Amino acid sequence: MTPQLADLFEFLRFPSVSTDSRHAGDVRGCAGWLVAKLSAMGLGAELHDTPGHPVVVARNVHVPGRCTVLIYGHYDVQPVDPLALWTSAPFAPEIRDGKIWARGATDNKGQMLAHLLGVEQTLRDHGDLPVNLIFLFEGEEEIGSPNLAPFLVRHRDALRCDVIAISDTGMVAPGVPTLGYGLRGITCCEAVLRGPAGDLHSGLFGGAVANPATAIGRLIASLHDADGRVAIDGFYDQVRPLENWERRMWSQVPGVGDLEMLETTGCPGLFGEPGYTTAERIWARPTAEVNGLGGGYQGEGSKTVLPAEAFVKLSFRLVPDQDPQDIMAKVTCHLASHCPPGVTLEVTSGHDGKPYVTDPHSRYGRAAQAALRAVFGAEPVLIREGGSIPIVQTFREILGADSLLLGLALADAQIHAPNENFPVANFEAGIRLNQALLQHLASA
Ligand code: BES
Ligand code: ZN
Repeated sequence: MTPQLADLFEFLRFPSVSTDSRHAGDVRGCAGWLVAKLSAMGLGAELHDTPGHPVVVARNVHVPGRCTVLIYGHYDVQPVDPLALWTSAPFAPEIRDGKIWARGATDNKGQMLAHLLGVEQTLRDHGDLPVNLIFLFEGEEEIGSPNLAPFLVRHRDALRCDVIAISDTGMVAPGVPTLGYGLRGITCCEAVLRGPAGDLHSGLFGGAVANPATAIGRLIASLHDADGRVAIDGFYDQVRPLENWERRMWSQVPGVGDLEMLETTGCPGLFGEPGYTTAERIWARPTAEVNGLGGGYQGEGSKTVLPAEAFVKLSFRLVPDQDPQDIMAKVTCHLASHCPPGVTLEVTSGHDGKPYVTDPHSRYGRAAQAALRAVFGAEPVLIREGGSIPIVQTFREILGADSLLLGLALADAQIHAPNENFPVANFEAGIRLNQALLQHLASA
C-alpha cells in the first residue's frame, strides 16, 4: 500500500458522523488527525472550536502578489445505516476491485485528502507552493453547515482569497474530466398531521373520523401534477431558464443519457418534468421530494389501527434564482391550504442553502479546465450539479470568491448509502489534479 493510501485509510477509520451526537468525540478526533497531518507537512494548522464540530484551517506562508487559493472540504460523513447491507464494515476501509470501500471514501474524505496529499507532494518536490494556500475543512457539511457562515464572518480577513477549489461533486463517467459550475440549493421541512388523541380501532371508529395517514397521502399528492411538475403556487416564478448553449453542451455529455440513468438507478423507467432531458431535470430544474414518510403500523402482518398521527419529511432542490426562504414560505402556505379536513397540520422547517451558478469560462474556470485536461488527457465536460453544497453561495457572499467544482465522485459511488466506494484511480488522479491545478491557477 502506498503511503498516500495508508493516510486515507487512517482518515477513513474515524466514524465522523456529524448528525449523531454519540460520535462527537470521533468527529473531533478526526479534526485533530487533520491538524497533525497538516502540521507535519509544514503548514500552519489550527483547530477552531465552534458551537458544533470543529473547523480546521491551514496555510502556507503567504507571499504578496501570488494568487490566493482556498481549498474547501468536509471531514464529516453521513450515517451508515442500514449497516446490514454493507459488504465490509463502513469504518474498516478495504480495497476490492480497484476501489476503496468505506463511508466517506468519496464523500468527502477521499476527494478532500487528495488535495491535501497533492500539496504534500508539491512541497516535497519543490519545497514551496506556487500559490498562497488556505485549507478550510469543516465537520458539519452533511448537516447543512450551521456554524460555518458565522465562522467566515469572524475570520473574513484571514480567509480572503481569489478563488476557491472544491472536490465534493460528481464526475460524469470514469476518466471523463468534469468541471462543475453550478449546484442546486435546498430547503427542507417536516409536516406532521394529527387526528385522534390516540391510536383508535379502525373498525370502531374508521369512517367517522379522518385518518392522518390517508390525509398525508392526499397532502403529498398535492405537491405535483400528474406529469411531475411541482404544483405549488409561484414555485417556478424565480427559475432562470436554461441557456441554449448549456442545453446544446449537455446533450453531448456522457453518463447522463436515459439508458445510463436507468442502469445507474435500477429503476424500471424514468419520470420527470416534461420538456427537459434527464441531465436538464437534474442540473437545472427544481424539485419537491419526499425523503421520509411514516404513520401507522409498520410491523409484520396487519393491525387494524387508525393512527393518531402521520408525518412526511420533504426537501426541495432549488435552482438560480430561487430563494430558500421564499420557497419555504410558499411550501408552508401550500401545505396549509391543501391540508385535508379533520386533521391538524404542523410544519417545522429545517436547514437550507442557496443555489449557485458561475461562469466556467472565467480565467480561473479556464485554469481549472487546463488542469483537468492535463491530468485526464481529455477535454473536460462542463456541468451543473444536482446535489447541494450550501456553503458555496455563502462563500461568494461573504468572501467574494467563486468556487471551482472539480468533482471525482462517480455515479456508482453509493454516497450516503451502504457500500460507499472510491476508485483508487480517482484518488491518485485527484492528487495529480491538485498539483496541476495550483500550477495553472498560479499563472491564471
Ligand atoms: N458532496 C455532496 C454533494 C454532491 C455530491 C454534489 C455529488 C454533487 C454531486 C454533499 O456532501 C452533500 O451530500 N450535500 C447535501 C447537502 C445537504 C445535507 C444540505 C445534499 O446535497 O443533500
Ligand atoms: Zn454528502
